[in-house]
Amino acid sequence: DWSMGSFMEYIIPKLREEVGKNKVVCALSGGVDSSVVAVLLHRAIGDKAHAIFVDNGLLRTGEAQEVKEVFTKKIPLNFHYVDKTKLFLKHLKGVIDPELKRKIIGNLFIDVFEQEAKKIKNVSFLAQGTLYPDVIESVSFKGPAAIIKSHHNVGGLPERMPLKLIEPLRELFKDEVRILARELGLPEVIIKRQPFPGPGLAIRIIGEVTPQRLSILRKADKIVLEEMRKANLYDTVWQSFAILLPIKTVGVMGDERTYQHVIALRVVESVDGMTADWARLPYNILERISNRIINEVSGINRVVYDISSKPPSTIEWE
Ligand code: XMP
Repeated sequence: DWSMGSFMEYIIPKLREEVGKNKVVCALSGGVDSSVVAVLLHRAIGDKAHAIFVDNGLLRTGEAQEVKEVFTKKIPLNFHYVDKTKLFLKHLKGVIDPELKRKIIGNLFIDVFEQEAKKIKNVSFLAQGTLYPDVIESVSFKGPAAIIKSHHNVGGLPERMPLKLIEPLRELFKDEVRILARELGLPEVIIKRQPFPGPGLAIRIIGEVTPQRLSILRKADKIVLEEMRKANLYDTVWQSFAILLPIKTVGVMGDERTYQHVIALRVVESVDGMTADWARLPYNILERISNRIINEVSGINRVVYDISSKPPSTIEWE
C-alpha cells in the first residue's frame, strides 16, 4: 500500500538512476496510465523522455485532439503525434474475427511505434504503464485461458524492440494511479477518464470495421458519454459505452418502415476490470440515451441494454 507522495519520492530518483544519460520512449494513449508514465518520466528526466501518440483512427469523437491539446499546451512534454488513421483502416478491411482484429492492430501499432522510436536516435528504454492487475492477469492467462483474449497491455512491444523495459506503475492499482495523476497536475478529463481498450472502437464494431460504421458508433458513443456526464453518472461507473451490432432489425418512423442496425449499451461497475456487474441505471437515463441515439444517429433504429456480468461475460463484446 503506497501513499502517493512517498511513491513519487521513491520513483522519480529511481527513474533518474535507471535511465542515466539515456533516452526513453513511451507510448502515450491519453488514458490515465500512459499519461502518468509520460509525465513522471518528463519530471524525472525532462527532454530525454519522448512520448509517442499514435492516432489509429479507432478513437472516439474529439479524442486525438484532446490528447494533443493536453500534452502540447497544458502539460507540454516531448510529444510526437503520429497520424496513421488510413493505415489501420486499410489493414482492417474485410476482417471480422475479433482475435485477428486485435492482432492486426497490435502488430501495426508496434510497427509504427518502432519506426517513430527509430527516428529518435539512441533510445535505450521503453516505458510502459503496466499496472499490478495487468501483471496478475497476464500470468494467470498463461493456461488454457490464454486464448480467451490476447492481452495487449502486457507483452508485444518489448518482445520485438531491442529496448530495456521500465514499468514504473507495476506495483499500483488503478485508484492509486488516479491519485498520482492528480498530484502530477494532469487535467480531470484524463484522470477521470474511463478505461478505453487499445484496439479502440474496432472491438466495439461487431463484424467489419468501415469508415461508415465508425462514424455511426462515434455519434452513438458521444451521446452515451454526454448523457452519463450530464446525469453525474460518468464518474460513478467503470465504463459506459456503445457497441454497434451488424444485424438489422425492423422499426417504424412516421409512416415508414425502417430496417437498420442495433446499438447495444454497455455500462458496468467494477473495481479493477477483472470482474464487473452491469450498472442498474435509472430508467429515465436509459430512456434519454435510447431516444437520443435513435433520433439523432441515422442508421440506428433500436437500442438494447446489456445485462450481463463478468464473469462469464467480458466487459467488451470482442
Ligand atoms: P474485458 O472485455 O476483458 O475487459 O472484460 C476488461 C477491461 O480491459 C479493457 N480491455 C483492454 N484494454 N487493450 C486494452 O488496453 C485491450 O486489448 C483490451 N481489451 C479489453 C476493457 O475495456 C475493460 O476495461
